[in-house]
This record gives sequence, C-alpha cells and structure tokens, in this order.
Amino acid sequence: MDLSEQIYVRKSCRKYLDDEIDMSAIKEFMDNVKPLTREINYSYEILTKDKLNIRTRWKAPYYLALYSDKKDNYGVNIGFIFQQLSLFLQSLDIGSCWVGMASLKENNPKFVIAISFGKSNDLTREISQFKRKSLSEIADTEDERLIPAQLAPSAVNSQPWYFKQSNEGFDVYKVKHNIVKRKILGKWNDVDIGIALAHLYISNPETFEFEVKDKQDIKGYTYVGSVKI
Ligand SMILES: Cc1cc2nc3c(=O)[nH]c(=O)nc-3n(C[C@H](O)[C@H](O)[C@H](O)COP(=O)(O)O)c2cc1C
Repeated sequence: MDLSEQIYVRKSCRKYLDDEIDMSAIKEFMDNVKPLTREINYSYEILTKDKLNIRTRWKAPYYLALYSDKKDNYGVNIGFIFQQLSLFLQSLDIGSCWVGMASLKENNPKFVIAISFGKSNDLTREISQFKRKSLSEIADTEDERLIPAQLAPSAVNSQPWYFKQSNEGFDVYKVKHNIVKRKILGKWNDVDIGIALAHLYISNPETFEFEVKDKQDIKGYTYVGSVKI
C-alpha cells in the first residue's frame, strides 16, 4: 500500500459512522512506524469518546490519546509519528482528525494531543479543494518535492512551516508568533511541523533523513531541523 497517494486526497474527517473497528491493524502499523528521533519515549491509547472532554461540535466514536516524554522537539516527533498512522487509517477508509480541542477526563502530564477516528463515508476530496499557501509562501524555492509538505494539515490551517534550500536538502523553520497567537497555537505548531515532515518522509521513504544542525533562526521563523529527501 502506497500511503503517499493519501496525501493528495485526504481531509480532516468530522463526520463519522458508529461502526466498530478492528484495532489490530493499528497496533501492527504502530509496531513498525518510524519516529523522527529514537530519544523520546512516546505511547498511545485508544479511547472511546466518553473518556475525553471534547470541545468540538462534532464527535467521533474513537480517539487516540497521544503521550510523550516532554523533551525538546517532542511535539514534532508526535506529529511525525502519528501523521503516518493517520495516512494509514485513511488507506483503510477510516477517517481521522487531529483534535487540539480535547483533553483527557483523567489528567495525565504526558498527554500531548488527541486524534479522532472512525469509519466514514466522507473521506476524500479533489486536490483543488485543498486550501493551502503557495509554494513561494512556504519556501525560498518552488521545488515540487515540497508539495507533500504544502498539503499537510495543521491546527486552524495555520501552515506554520518554511523551507529554505540548503546544499543537502532543506532547512525547516517554524513561524514565530506574537504572544497572543503563541498562547493559542504555540503548542500545536510543533505538531504541525512534524506532520509536514511525515508527508515528506512518506513521499521519500528511501532517502528521507532529518537532523538538527547548529543553524540560526531567520527573520520571523525559528530553526527546527534539516531534511534530506
Ligand atoms: C495540531 C492540530 C490540531 C487540530 N485541532 C483541531 C480541532 O480541535 N478541531 C477541528 O475541528 N480540527 C482540528 N484540526 C484540523 C485542522 O483544522 C485541519 O487540519 C486544517 O484546517 C486543514 O484542513 P484539512 O486537514 O482538511 O486539510 C487540527 C489539526 C492539527 C494539525
């Protein structure tokens, strides 16, 4: 199954059926998923909707609760890992949506974010229905290899990423927000960056490499790391 095809048809799913799902495929996929770094322990749990406080107007039958040790770049790592799962679910006709607006009823300091999921018959769309910044707004080069990252989902579609061409690939940056925006989006923007990196990895599984180098921030953006694709 080529998951990269899902990148061009997926959408955040907010209409679910109540069908039961065989969770064994998820477990098997997660046993082989690629983390961005092996240095951060993470885990997940599959919960039914009654275990969360959900502040969206819609609900799904199931939620993934994602947990991590809160080391540097943990949000990026969580986005990277679980966007791979989201694309895999999509390939099984299971819709999903990252949900910042949900928390656990039982508090857990390792909790990062939730992903809703469930069977759906509202799973795909045409490429023309993606609302995204142009390549020239998210990169200093209109390199088509960045299209999978351009199409990545992000919290309130903020698309906080910027790619700068380097000798070996691209340096990846995250937008710097003012205090007000940072309060709302800061926590999710790391996850967003990880999601965009997951799309680059799924599109270039043989060649993808990520490394945090000693690089400076650029105007308006914080350096996150460098990719080869
Ligand atoms: C970190 C993160 C948090 C999100 N939180 C919510 C949420 O709380 N409620 C919601 O309806 N959508 C949420 N979304 C979905 C985004 O609104 C959606 O990805 C974006 O608008 C782009 O649309 P698309 O995913 O259909 O391409 C979230 C997405 C991300 C990546």
